Amino acid sequence: MKNVVKSNVKLKCISCGTEYPPDPRLYKCRKCGGLLTVEYDFSKAKISWNDFEGRGVWRYKQLLPPSEQLYDKTVTLHEGDTPLIKLENLVTQSNVYVKFEGANPTGSFKDRGMTVAVTLAKHIGSRLVIVASTGNTAASVSAYASRANIKSAIVLPRGKVALGKLAQSILHGALIFEIEGNFDDALDTVRKVVEINPEIYPLNSFNPWRLEGQKTLAFEVAEELGVPDWVIVPVGNAGNISAIWKGFKELYELKLIPKLPKMVGVQSEGASPLATAFERGLDEPVFVEKPETIATAIRIGRPINWPKAMMAVKESKGLFLKVSDREIVDAMAKLGSMEGIDAEPAGASSIAGYLKLLEQGVVSKKDKVVCVVTGHALKDPDAMLRISVNRIIVSKAEAVETILKTVSQ
Ligand code: F0G
Repeated sequence: MKNVVKSNVKLKCISCGTEYPPDPRLYKCRKCGGLLTVEYDFSKAKISWNDFEGRGVWRYKQLLPPSEQLYDKTVTLHEGDTPLIKLENLVTQSNVYVKFEGANPTGSFKDRGMTVAVTLAKHIGSRLVIVASTGNTAASVSAYASRANIKSAIVLPRGKVALGKLAQSILHGALIFEIEGNFDDALDTVRKVVEINPEIYPLNSFNPWRLEGQKTLAFEVAEELGVPDWVIVPVGNAGNISAIWKGFKELYELKLIPKLPKMVGVQSEGASPLATAFERGLDEPVFVEKPETIATAIRIGRPINWPKAMMAVKESKGLFLKVSDREIVDAMAKLGSMEGIDAEPAGASSIAGYLKLLEQGVVSKKDKVVCVVTGHALKDPDAMLRISVNRIIVSKAEAVETILKTVSQ
């Protein structure tokens, strides 16, 4: 194995605790098949906020896995450093912020993970990367693979991927497989393919290296705002909420923050294996065979990272909750029309979750809250067109003028 990962890094199974050297090609525990996590020995580290330099994901390179020799050879499109926007109209006199991940290069949070994982893939000599995707991972992987001069293959649930995401993958030159079935079936396909051919590098979130990039969202929030009381995250395959929680925990371990936030995972009613389990007080998800929701990005019935996500919610004393498709579209419309923030449906589900928790009195207006808006509205034009608006067909300027007179009164 080439020396692509720092020496203070190891892999650890979250189920049985077995430890492994930091092999970028190891994605599950050889003993029990459990999920792996990346662990750092920070015992000799003396890191302060002043040590971070530069912008975006690589600003936090001391807390990322690649070896120092790779710092100037990263595969990057300048991801991260996304806007943290305080809501002013949708909820007044509150303390709620949107972390707008739609501002990443391909329009979603996935880019944070891909810059790290594709950097490793390139430097271990991968020629072909693969993912199953509801759309955004595909758009991101195919972009970073192009940048790295690596081929990308993506497996999509046919007819269930938002138009913008499919178009991006076409633009980035990916090899596109569309399967009959849902995301969970696509992910099974990818796992089988990489088992048969280990030369093909998988970039789904069972690859723990990818989640290392995604944890930088926590670093940016803590550096700009301090520690929120609540962090609200849309949940699909459950990697992102786990990564963000890991980021906060590392800052806490390094004594860079004095406390931890509570994590909230939001799922859509028709695809809510974790939220249903939480409602019923179960320790395991209630898998959904035929998930269905307008938020196609999180249309997932069997989230692979469920053990990590459940741990994040439990350890942080947070919660999972469900929102309906109507609540999602409503939140998306409000965010766009009252704040000018463009969220795709899955992205807006964090806002729908916040509004629900506010109404239920679980969260108060005084609480400092960060809602992660995970993807840009342009990804999903069909969803935007479902919002009812005032579109008026006119033929003369006079008609416009007459109508505007009544509007401005
Ligand atoms: N929001 C958006 C916009 C997403 O695209 C996804 C996941 C999530 C939230 C959920 O994140 O899976 O880490 O819990 N999209 C994946 C994809 C599944 O293939 O693009 P998660």
